[in-house]
Amino acid sequence: MLFDLTEEHLMIQKAARDFANDVLKPGVIERDELQKFPAEQIKQMGELGFMGMMVDPKYGGGGMDCVSYVLAMEEISKIDASCSVVMSVNNSLVCWGLEKFGTEEQKQKYLVPLAKGEIIGGFCLSEPEAGSDATSQKTTAIDKGDHYLVNGTKNWITNGSSASVFLVIAQTHVEKGHKGINALIIEKGTPGFVVGPKENKLGIRGSDTHSLMFTDVKVPKENRIGEDGFGFKFAMQVLSGGRIGIASQALGIASGAYELALAYSKERKAFGKPINQHQAIQFKLADMATQIEAARLLCLKAAWMKDQHMNFDKASAMAKVFASKVAMDTTIEAVQIHGGYGFVKEYHVERLMRDAKITQIYEGTTEVQKIVISRALLA
Ligand code: CAA
Repeated sequence: MLFDLTEEHLMIQKAARDFANDVLKPGVIERDELQKFPAEQIKQMGELGFMGMMVDPKYGGGGMDCVSYVLAMEEISKIDASCSVVMSVNNSLVCWGLEKFGTEEQKQKYLVPLAKGEIIGGFCLSEPEAGSDATSQKTTAIDKGDHYLVNGTKNWITNGSSASVFLVIAQTHVEKGHKGINALIIEKGTPGFVVGPKENKLGIRGSDTHSLMFTDVKVPKENRIGEDGFGFKFAMQVLSGGRIGIASQALGIASGAYELALAYSKERKAFGKPINQHQAIQFKLADMATQIEAARLLCLKAAWMKDQHMNFDKASAMAKVFASKVAMDTTIEAVQIHGGYGFVKEYHVERLMRDAKITQIYEGTTEVQKIVISRALLA
């Protein structure tokens, strides 16, 4: 068993770390405060290859493995989790879904610009009444011969206004339950497709989360992904990979907060010595570092299994459930170590604490991950 990263992995990790510190850090507090989408920063991430990292170079991607993706996600998320969620949705849900299950025409038309970062993608499964219970899709895609007619509302859509292309899950054959669900590629600007107001969120405030409304939206048949009725299994497989991205985001939020707390504990003095000379702080740092290391190993193992083409459903759910809990616990402790300074924006840890919460909710709540894990254990 080898734990060493390759030279290439280390280069990618360093490139992501440098980019995050040099480009993302300067405006991150302001973007969070103003809920400003990081359009220029995402454009640069595309140019550097961070938006289609795992895509085959023949479709404009970086041809990297999933381990590289985890390393890059951790570094970007340490500094700006709003940027990393845009990156995660584009890489693991949209690009991977299209590359694995799309037709050659769909790949040429949509995957190539998505992988190059020329456009951004979104993934639409959640609805006002279908979150964790994902089979209860109310959005319909009625078969009209050469096209589908789509009607319904999608909720909590990351990249809701910034994306140009969406993978939309909708019910075609109600009587068949989840076996009657389809996944369709829908372009922004298609008549009848309206982007609702932006959500005012607790965390990841730089990312744009919207409801999307579809009223008699005509979608050509060639925009269906996979066979008729494949949409639910498509969504499940794509989300399983997406959970590695969100687990890595949670890992990055946790390690970012830990690094800030460690640095602060060396500078800050109390009772005549740096606070890291007090055992109360040392024990916190030891717990944080141990939890983060365990989360990192789970993320890397899930990524490695994906790279080996093994079934990674249980591994990605375990990584997400654990890393997101570590993100919550670690960021709370990082604020505590900072004391009053942790409660103000310029020290960054309060933002990381707010950002951490969503990792326990999106791309499947903690409870959903436990369903996935326990079903795998009992199967
Ligand atoms: N791969 C392939 N097939 C899968 C699968 C997987 N990983 N998981 C399930 N399936 C298949 C099952 O085998 C089953 O098929 P058969 O009937 O042919 O046997 C079918 O899908 C239905 O599966 P279940 O019976 O397990 O379905 P369920 O209704 O019990 O739900 C669930 C299981 C795990 C709770 C699932 O509904 C789920 O993952 N829910 C959460 C959805 C989610 O993550 N939502 C987040 C939205 S996306 C988001 O947040 C976007 C964003 O912008 C960030």
